[in-house]
Parts: sequence; C-alpha cells; structure tokens
Amino acid sequence: MRLYINIDHVATVRQARMTIEPDPVRAAVLAELGGADGITVHHRIDIRHVSPRDVELLMRTIRTGLNLEISSRERMVNYAAGVAPMAVTLVPESRQEVTTEGGLDLGETEVRRSVANALKRFADEGIRSSLFIDPDLEAIDHAAALQADAVELHTGEYANALSSYEKADELTRLVRASEYAHGAGLAVHAGHGLTYENVVPVAALPCIEELNIGHSVVSRAIFTGLERAVRDMRAIVDASPSRVARPGEWVHPIGF
Ligand code: PXP
Repeated sequence: MRLYINIDHVATVRQARMTIEPDPVRAAVLAELGGADGITVHHRIDIRHVSPRDVELLMRTIRTGLNLEISSRERMVNYAAGVAPMAVTLVPESRQEVTTEGGLDLGETEVRRSVANALKRFADEGIRSSLFIDPDLEAIDHAAALQADAVELHTGEYANALSSYEKADELTRLVRASEYAHGAGLAVHAGHGLTYENVVPVAALPCIEELNIGHSVVSRAIFTGLERAVRDMRAIVDASPSRVARPGEWVHPIGF
C-alpha cells in the first residue's frame, strides 16, 4: 500500500496570512522523512492554496513522486504536462466548494470529452493518470472505457457516515468498487476524509494500492510535528489486517 500525503492544508495555513510560512515544500520533505511514498497537491484554478511556485519547487526537491491534482480544463492540462509530475489525478472543481465534493461526473458527455482529451495528452507525455470518482460501478465502466491508468475512489461518504450500519454500507460499496475496478484492469487508489480512526478498514482492502490522505495528517501535525504524524499514519496503514495476514487469510473488515 502506497501512502501519499496531501499537503494542501499546509498551504492553506500560509494563505490565511498571505505570507511565506508554513512552506509546503518543507512539509513535503518532513512527510518523506516520516515514510510517505509520495506527495499530493491540488493545484486549483483559483490558486486558493497551492501555487505554481510550490509545484515547481516540489518537483525539484522531493525524492519520491508528485501526484498533481488538477481539473480537466485545457489550461490546467497544458500546465500539468509542462510540470511532468509522476502522476496526475483529475478531479472536479467548482469555485464555491470548501473541498472536492464528489467524484468526476463521467456520465456527463462534456466531462467525458474533456477527461478523454486530458488522458490522451498524459498518455502521450508518459504521465500516469488517475480519475477521482465515486465508488460506483458505472463510473468505473466509464474510467475503464476512457483508458485511465487508475481510479481514486472517493471515500468521503464512508468517512462521513455516522451510524455503524451506514458505515458498513459505505464500506461494502468500496469493497465492490475496488474489486470491480481491479477486475477492469485499473489500478485502485482511495482517498478523502480518511483519518487515524477510520483508515484501517479501507487500508485492509486488498485491491487498493494507494491512499491519499491530507487533512487528518496535517491536523495531527500541529500537535506532534509532521514527520511523526506521517509515521503514525504509516504504521496504522501497514498494520491493517490484510497487510499482515498471509494471502488467503484476509477477513472482510465489516464489523470493525
Ligand atoms: N483525494 C482527492 C482527490 C482530494 O481532492 C483530496 C482533498 O484535497 C484528498 C484525496 C485528501 O482528502 P483529505 O484532505 O480529506 O485527506
């Protein structure tokens, strides 16, 4: 299981004062020292937190890989192709949202068209592509037809579920979607809203190979420091049941 740490919210704190600290580039180095397999940032069109300067310096500084989240608009696709990160994740973007609110609506012809153009460009440039989608089979069918390299399953509904019944339902949805996407030949990632408290059942899903986690880790870092916060998350993810069980011994995590 690869653990990518999203450091957007380090930039959010910086932008609260429009100053130069805390620097997301320093944060990325500490995240790597804590055991992150890669760094994720969302370069929004409105440059609300992460800036082109951050992306440029991250590319020159980090020793792992950069996963650049962008919208599929042509301007951002051209920008990402110029940056040439290890991977690009296409996400929906709207101006009013506090955070990414749902997966790409691949049922919409216009969305499919712009995603298809973006994927073609990234394939030509040799950049790995991922589509952030809700854990629905229809969305996975679209992603497979579009020949994305990977899908990132939106775990927000799972994270926000309040009752244990609702949580179990959402987890079942993630189980099905991850198996279905894996069966369709897509690499399967997951992220959004994952925390130290809720990550284990998702990290235990055998078809998921990468997690993207940001807010919870940056929040904990205020108290523990970022390197320690990443190390703690790393330990939890690595100790999740299917990661320590021998093949064939995996137990469905529902009922946690
Ligand atoms: N994956 C995607 C596509 C996201 O947009 C975000 C939030 O920026 C995350 C993962 C990380 O979510 P969180 O900050 O809630 O861990």
